[in-house]
Order: sequence, then C-alpha cells, then structure tokens
Amino acid sequence: MSQAQQETGARQAPTEEELTRAGLRLSVEGAVARITIARPERRNAMTGRTWTTMAHIGQTLPGDVRIVVISGEGDIFSAGIDLNMFTPEGVDGERSIIDGLAEGTTDDAELDAYIAELQEGFRWLRRPDLVTIAAVRGHAIGAGFQLALSCDLRILADDARFCMKEPALGLVPDLTGTKPLVDIVGVHRAVEICLTARKVGAEESREIGLATLVVGVDELDGAVDDAIAGLLAVNADAAVATKALLQQAADNTLEEQCAAERKAQAGRLTAMVKAMTAGS
Ligand code: ACO
Repeated sequence: MSQAQQETGARQAPTEEELTRAGLRLSVEGAVARITIARPERRNAMTGRTWTTMAHIGQTLPGDVRIVVISGEGDIFSAGIDLNMFTPEGVDGERSIIDGLAEGTTDDAELDAYIAELQEGFRWLRRPDLVTIAAVRGHAIGAGFQLALSCDLRILADDARFCMKEPALGLVPDLTGTKPLVDIVGVHRAVEICLTARKVGAEESREIGLATLVVGVDELDGAVDDAIAGLLAVNADAAVATKALLQQAADNTLEEQCAAERKAQAGRLTAMVKAMTAGS
C-alpha cells in the first residue's frame, strides 16, 4: 500500500490469499501490471469472485501503473464462466447464481445489482489512464472473449480462438462485451458471431479487426513486451488525454468532437508551457 493510501485509509490491494481464491495472480512492476487468470485445472474458468477481485485490483492499482496485461496460465486464455456457478453447489463456497432465483428470494433489482457488480470487473479496463492488453493463447470463450473485448489491444497467438458461447447456453453476453464487439466488427458480423456461437480463429480475428496483432505462440510474450515498450515511449499525460478523446469520438457529432479536441489540446499546451517555464 502506498503512503497516500495509508494516510487516506484507501482500500488495500487484494491479498495473495484473496487472489488465489479468485483464481488470479497479480504482479506490478513500475508502470506495468500483469493479471493472470490461473485456474489451469478448470481451463482458467472464472467465477463471480474472479470478477469482483478484478474490480478490486483496478481500484487499488498504484497510481504510476499505465499498462495492464491480462493473460491466462498455460495454453488457454479462459474457458469463460465456471459452469458450476449455475449448479446448486456453486463454486468453493461461492453462492450459485441460480440459488436465489430457484428459491424465489432474488428479485429483479437484486439480480440487476448482482450482474452490475460482476460487470465492474470488466468496466474499469476502459479507464483512460490505463492501456489494457489481452494476450490471448488458445480459447477465449464467453466471459473470456468479453474480457479480451474489454481491453484496448488484443494480441493473439495464432492458436487463439474466440467464441461467444452465451446464446448457445440460453444466455446473453452481459459482461460488457457486446458494445466493443459491435464497435469493432459492426452489428451484422456481431449478430452472426454471437448467434452461431462459432469459433473465430486468430487469422479471421486479424482480418475483421478483433486482433491488434497475431504472432506465433512462442512470440506472444515478446510481442506484448514490444507493445508495452511502444506505449510507454509516449508522453503519459498525452496518452491519457488522447485515449479519453478517442473514446468519445464514436458518440460525438463532428462539432462536439472538434470542441473536445480543442479543450484537450488547450490542457496539453497549458501543461507544456507550465513545465517549460518551471524548467527555465
Ligand atoms: N467451467 C467449469 N469447468 C470447466 C470449464 C468451465 N467453463 N471449462 C472446462 N472445465 C473443466 C472441465 O470440466 C474439465 O474438468 P475435469 O478434468 O474435472 O473433467 C477440465 O476443465 C478440462 O476440460 P476439458 O473439456 O477436458 O478441456 P479441453 O482442453 O478438452 O477443452 C474447452 C477446453 C474447449 C475450453 C472446453 O473445456 C469447453 O468447451 N469448456 C466449456 C466452455 C463454456 O461453455 N464456457 C461457458 C461460456 S458462457 C460464459 O462464459 C458466460
């Protein structure tokens, strides 16, 4: 915990025990945080606890972190939600999703709040002060695909396969993945991918814009390191302002976007002149 966090009583980062129970590993070195989904015996399937802990990680990252890399342990990114979440037993003491519904004790508002809480594990990856990278080997199914979609960059090994499995299971994709999917591939291709629940391989992902880059399996780590080096070479404050600007572009009119560019640039120029004056 940083001194500032101690002084303000801010929340502490998840403990090793909390991370392990959530099936996650976390390492932070300088400006780079690496989150690994680490339940290889379940093909890195994730639970509600995985996502609330991911949100916790996001809330407690040191302020100097600029890059977050998410990957899966071994030869798979993630098999998606742990299907035991839908059984009465649940997972390792975690409440089953269906329990309250089956008992009639969960109302619509509670269910909405529960899903919103899970979505927080994915939403923070859009923060403008971070660039998030999914490093994908093998399958990224359902929630795993949505997690990769939540990141800014998807760097794929050539064995990567995306699949939006939810409709095949009677569900909808609800972990924040539908918006980036449509933003990237358009509504028609998104309908086809989701409603067939087919596997989209690495080459096709590159062709339709889902993959930022596709490399050989042995080159994945190096490609991620190269991307990190390139991202860190850019001015940190300009990177934050630019990501914020790009994120609003699709929803803004040209007039609104021009105004946003002017405002952001005024902020950058003012900061640059202040720095020059302070240095002279
Ligand atoms: N939840 C719980 N356990 C899982 C999951 C999962 N999503 N995926 C795999 N496992 C378990 C298997 O039950 C198996 O356990 P066992 O050794 O005790 O029998 C173990 O992981 C290995 O799984 P295999 O199927 O043998 O591994 P394989 O490499 O052949 O296949 C694959 C991997 C393709 C990921 C396959 O396991 C699969 O299709 N899993 C289900 C994917 C799924 O439907 N996810 C939910 C999508 S919807 C959503 O995420 C909201």
